[in-house]
Amino acid sequence: MSRSPRIAASGIVALLIGGLGLSQSYAADAVPRVELLASMCSTCHGANGKGAKPMPSINGEEPADFIDLMQAFASGEEPTSIMDRHAQGYTEAELKLLAEYFSKQ
Ligand code: HEC
Repeated sequence: MSRSPRIAASGIVALLIGGLGLSQSYAADAVPRVELLASMCSTCHGANGKGAKPMPSINGEEPADFIDLMQAFASGEEPTSIMDRHAQGYTEAELKLLAEYFSKQ
């Protein structure tokens, strides 16, 4: 008995979807999202945000203060040479993730 083309096609679709799911969960486990976000900051602020002269350290801050400062950078309320552009690139949820992450470093 041969399989109908339709059944064969749905098998291929299921394989594709299964494969995508697998690679996504693999990527998520390999590097947690917050570490990917934080790695952008660490290129300037040093490993774990602990500072890399002349860049200031950004670790160990209260999360609420960290978020306030990032939002002040983004709005232009806090004058800065470069952080305004960085701060504008993140959603509030991402800022919260970063604030929690760096507060524990
Ligand atoms: C291109 C380099 C660069 C990158 C990338 C960068 N920063 Fe900064 N950051 C600076 C500089 C320079 C300052 C000092 C203020 C200024 O001149 O803008 C600063 C200041 C800060 C401060 C204030 C520190 C203090 O004690 O005054 C915080 C908080 C901060 N950055 C967070 C971040 C976060 C979070 C990221 C990643 C989303 C990030 N920065 C990415 C260069 C960078």
